Amino acid sequence: MASCDKRIKIALQKSGRLADHSLDLLERCGLKFTKSKDQLFCYGENMPVDLLLVRDDDIPGLVSDDVCDLGIAGMNVIQEKRLQLEKQGKAAQFEKVYALDFGHCRLAIATQGDTDYTGSQSLQNMRIATSYTATLEQFLREQNVIAEIVYFSGAVEIAPRLGVADFICDLVSTGSTLAANDLTEVQTVFESEAVIIQTLEPLSAAKQKWVDRILQRLGGVLQVRESKYIMLHAPRSALREIVRLLPGAESPTVIPLEGDGDRVAVHAVCHEAVFWETLENLKSIGASSLLVLPVEKMLA
Ligand code: PRP
Ligand code: ZN
Repeated sequence: MASCDKRIKIALQKSGRLADHSLDLLERCGLKFTKSKDQLFCYGENMPVDLLLVRDDDIPGLVSDDVCDLGIAGMNVIQEKRLQLEKQGKAAQFEKVYALDFGHCRLAIATQGDTDYTGSQSLQNMRIATSYTATLEQFLREQNVIAEIVYFSGAVEIAPRLGVADFICDLVSTGSTLAANDLTEVQTVFESEAVIIQTLEPLSAAKQKWVDRILQRLGGVLQVRESKYIMLHAPRSALREIVRLLPGAESPTVIPLEGDGDRVAVHAVCHEAVFWETLENLKSIGASSLLVLPVEKMLA
């Protein structure tokens, strides 16, 4: 199904762990939008972009079916959808564009109270409740474990108390849901974070231009997070060593200082975090007047 609408549709989580971060990210790409009364749809005012606010689990399907052109969701639901489709002999019609460095969590196995879990072999012939059946199935296969998977669409954490499962396999972020249900985490199955995915369906030239533009801005927003603009004075003889100490810096700008033949001003953009230790090391080889400034926007 090819979406003929001229406006780009981006699927985002309506509420939950990823919702605020996802909207914030798009706002930082310059998108302005109004929320509709039912808040399931946001109309982009300054770009031909609309946001669909849905359950995170539905996002990979909406992009794969080309209902939406882009989607922001956790790798956990993306991997599950990919494996579900594979089981049906189909290929997922989306690709990951960027990892977004938020929504870090893990799909993990947990069980009640004290446990003598010694590794995945402890799952042999056990009952495991989960909504991530395909991901769990793959994990068990890789571990050569035969276990019974009990499907729960939600509230998986109550399964052991109901006596219908010995273990659960669910998403753990802060761990407070497990703690509240007296469950102990015993095994990581899959590490996850939020990513942006794009449909594989070809877009019209006009739509593609906007998608490229949004993704380029997004790349800039992601890069800018850790980036800092560094300014310092240093003896010309220490330049080579200074550049070596600047984390992830491209060729710096070197400016002569008026009335001082030996000392120069060095300006550089660092693409990695700048720690106090780095500044102290720079100072110890002769740098002075060190300034570290946040970078507001960046376009590579
Ligand atoms: C997951 C999972 C737990 C909770 C764990 O739900 O199902 O309920 O998050 O988080 P915690 O370790 O911080 O307590 P998810 O965010 O996927 O929401 P959903 O199940 O409603 O889609
Ligand atoms: Zn979910």
